Amino acid sequence: MLLLPCRATRAGRVCVCNARVTRRTLQARELPSTEDAVGRSGPGRLIAIVVSLVLTAVTVGLMYVAFVDSADTPQTTYQAMSDNAQKTQDVYTLIFILAGIVFAGVMAATLAFSFIFREREGAKALQIHGNSKLEVIWTLLPVLIVVVMAVPTFQVIAETTGDAPENSITVRATGHQWWFQFEYEDYGVVTASDLHLPVDVPVRVILESGDVIHSFWVPQLSGKVDMVPGHTNQLWFTPNTPGEYLGQCAEFCALSHANMRFRVFVHTQADFDAWVQAQLAPSVTPTEGLAAEGANLFTMKGCIGCHTVRGNDIAMGVVGPDLTHFGSRTRLAGAMVPNTEEELRRWLTNPPAMKPGSIMPNLNLTPAEIDGLVAYLYSLK
Ligand code: CUA
Repeated sequence: MLLLPCRATRAGRVCVCNARVTRRTLQARELPSTEDAVGRSGPGRLIAIVVSLVLTAVTVGLMYVAFVDSADTPQTTYQAMSDNAQKTQDVYTLIFILAGIVFAGVMAATLAFSFIFREREGAKALQIHGNSKLEVIWTLLPVLIVVVMAVPTFQVIAETTGDAPENSITVRATGHQWWFQFEYEDYGVVTASDLHLPVDVPVRVILESGDVIHSFWVPQLSGKVDMVPGHTNQLWFTPNTPGEYLGQCAEFCALSHANMRFRVFVHTQADFDAWVQAQLAPSVTPTEGLAAEGANLFTMKGCIGCHTVRGNDIAMGVVGPDLTHFGSRTRLAGAMVPNTEEELRRWLTNPPAMKPGSIMPNLNLTPAEIDGLVAYLYSLK
């Protein structure tokens, strides 16, 4: 709405209103000034200002309550649990405060002007044209605000996606439709859906995709960075509190995008080391009972074509998750559901019914076959 020559003044001056000037407004301008309305004055104006400020304060207060309420949910970004999440949070807080001031100012002014200059019987609008000082202020002020937001934003993006500290561990995270794979190349461990990390140790996460664009996001630990096919991104962070954190794919990646989740478990160093040791052990293929039947079915039904089970030499597929330690995972089906026998049965009965678009097809397994597969899969601790 800025800096266009005003047809009303015809002198090449810039116009504050930039409204389309009609013959009627020109006529209005030519009316004696006594008939022009400049809005309420005196006590009326004061009341309008007070009412506007009160309404603004109530609105901002309600928004703050909603904000505080939302800060205690599992996907919150307001409770940073890593160094880099805290940096992101600090930038966000700065932007939130600046935006809040702008919001409150614009809302209060809009309300006040609406009350003060509202239409009244017989009153005509006073047209005012050109105010260079105001125009310069409202052009430069937003520029200044954007600069104040942009500088720390770019700094934090560069820091959190740049080189990780020397003592980092490395995890290669790969997005698949629709599950996350995590490879610990330093340890030779591969897992899915559950990401285990030691506390107070920086982790460098290398981000890749096996098919379409996904995005890695753990609201309490890291910002969002895309996982792009044929391109490697990275981010790093240092989790500072043991606990369980929710992760989520944050880039629409087709049908089951919303079902593409993961969990991050931050452990003490001792617990993390114990977890790594347990993961390093190959599986032992059961030789008797229901689990042995299940192991046989795992081959006969073609599961080996898509899944790797270290210790089972013919199970070397790479389409689906590595299942070597499936029994030790907390979630299944891309972390959609808890890893319970009930959910596993539901999954094996008809995967696409549970996770629409699932690459794992309905194998039309009988209940007896499912019994065997469940026994085998839970033997893989
Ligand atoms: Cu992967 Cu959305």
